[in-house]
Amino acid sequence: MASADVGLVIVAAGSGTRLGAEVPKAFVPLAGVPILGHALRGARSCPGLAEVVVVGPSRWLGQAEEVCRSAGFASDDESVSDAVSVTVVAGGATRGDSVAAGLAALSDAVRVVLVHDAARCLTPPAVFARVVKAVRAGAGAAVPGVPVVDTIKQVDAAGLVVGTPDRAVLRAIQTPQGFARAVLERAHAGSPDATDDAGLVERLGEPVLVVAGDERALKVTTCDDLDRAARFLTAGAAGA
Ligand code: CTP
Ligand code: MG
Repeated sequence: MASADVGLVIVAAGSGTRLGAEVPKAFVPLAGVPILGHALRGARSCPGLAEVVVVGPSRWLGQAEEVCRSAGFASDDESVSDAVSVTVVAGGATRGDSVAAGLAALSDAVRVVLVHDAARCLTPPAVFARVVKAVRAGAGAAVPGVPVVDTIKQVDAAGLVVGTPDRAVLRAIQTPQGFARAVLERAHAGSPDATDDAGLVERLGEPVLVVAGDERALKVTTCDDLDRAARFLTAGAAGA
């Protein structure tokens, strides 16, 4: 069996401006459980998981620790059989800053790093497993992706269409994104201004492998997304 050398960084430090709730997005309830709690539950069975770093809003670190405990992650609770350690750290002004804060908190034993958006709170365990498997098989970077259903157009500053890429070769990319630790650290050593971590690896000229994502890994961004996520939960409960 592969050793427990996977470190998971869950970025949850955003404010959730587009969702517009009274609390930061990670603490907005979905079927009575905070978004961060769902994200943690989905990650529990991740193969080889050794540690989790939750990157939270600086004024909400105590609440983040409480959510970790409720999700069954707590290093000081012996009723939890997990050997998985959990650390909560404060995030930064941008998502890239928050990922960097999470990376800095990982212990030396971690060899495979997963970076996951708390906002993709219903990502099924199978997606985590596929990403870890791909990195263990030798990919420096592996990301989940799903086929694009809309026709995508590239436009110029005036809004005029300059091109229509072939939809068949496009993928909408999700998280968790998985990396050999050394690759991700090299990628983050440069400027961290990309919308995802794989983008930084691409800039190094290193390959990034896409594995199958899942529609349930949607990013909760707006109230409509929250409704959609609630419907996934209801459908899952009915099918269980
Ligand atoms: N994130 C973070 N630190 C930031 C910004 C974002 O940890 N400074 C995290 C969010 O908590 C989220 C993920 O990155 O889990 C994706 O970001 P997004 O969906 O944009 O969340 P928010 O930035 O919170 O939302 P908004 O852009 O609507 O304010
Ligand atoms: Mg944002």
